[in-house]
Amino acid sequence: MSLPSPENTPSHVAIIMDGNGRWARQRGLPRIEGHRRGVETVRAVTDAGRELGLRTLTLYAFSVENWKRPQDEVGALMGLLEYYLQKELGTFIKNRIRLRTIGRTDQLPAGVQKHLNHTIAETAHFTDYTLVLALNYGARTEVADAARAYAAAVAAGQVEPNATSWETFSRYLYTAGLPDPDLIIRTSGETRISNFLLLQGAYAEFVFTPVLWPDFGKADLAAAIAEYARRERRYGLTSEQVKPKVTA
Ligand code: IPE
Ligand code: IPE
Ligand code: MG
Repeated sequence: MSLPSPENTPSHVAIIMDGNGRWARQRGLPRIEGHRRGVETVRAVTDAGRELGLRTLTLYAFSVENWKRPQDEVGALMGLLEYYLQKELGTFIKNRIRLRTIGRTDQLPAGVQKHLNHTIAETAHFTDYTLVLALNYGARTEVADAARAYAAAVAAGQVEPNATSWETFSRYLYTAGLPDPDLIIRTSGETRISNFLLLQGAYAEFVFTPVLWPDFGKADLAAAIAEYARRERRYGLTSEQVKPKVTA
């Protein structure tokens, strides 16, 4: 395994976008106004990630648990998602951004699915920068779905169950073909993972920032990346093993 040197920019940053509701409440606005502003931040941060040299940006936009929110909020979020996809297609193509999703997207409203499928197909050939939207995503659901698919592959004789390893099993996760996140950022001051990329984030670095998602910008992303660059990723080794020897 080759270890990325700590000076390196992370290749894959994943963000738990949190704090839209509190941003709105602080201003006496309905929660949905916070989500509307949050969509503007998604646009800005997608651009910023590209400019800062990331190869993959994953954004946690809607969790499997979020369906339990008030129905009008869920409906408004789905409406915003559809509007965003419709509006951004041109930008994705202009900026050569490939769109991918992780999550049970087949349970999203038909209109959202239609725009998702269209945008994914239209941007599938871009290779420099990938935006991954986690939609109706939950890590435990992901493991259950992967286990089901894996069991079906075993039953069909496509997989040798005795050879089960992380490498063979992880191909059945939603993230198949994507690198693991190097850095996971959570906004809004919460310091929990909320069922996000539990396995893929096994060796990710974490940065928690008090900034609410609608206020998050390029400078905040750059600061998190700078913090990442100061960390030493050891993957179980000793610091001496990881640090390159300084030769006079
Ligand atoms: C994040 O902001 C957006 C989603 C989870 C969809 P929240 O809506 O969770 O904002 P807070 O946590 O209530 O402030
Ligand atoms: C996590 O935020 C999910 C997303 C960012 C989409 P939540 O606001 O739903 O998480 P909890 O409920 O505070 O853990
Ligand atoms: Mg929240």
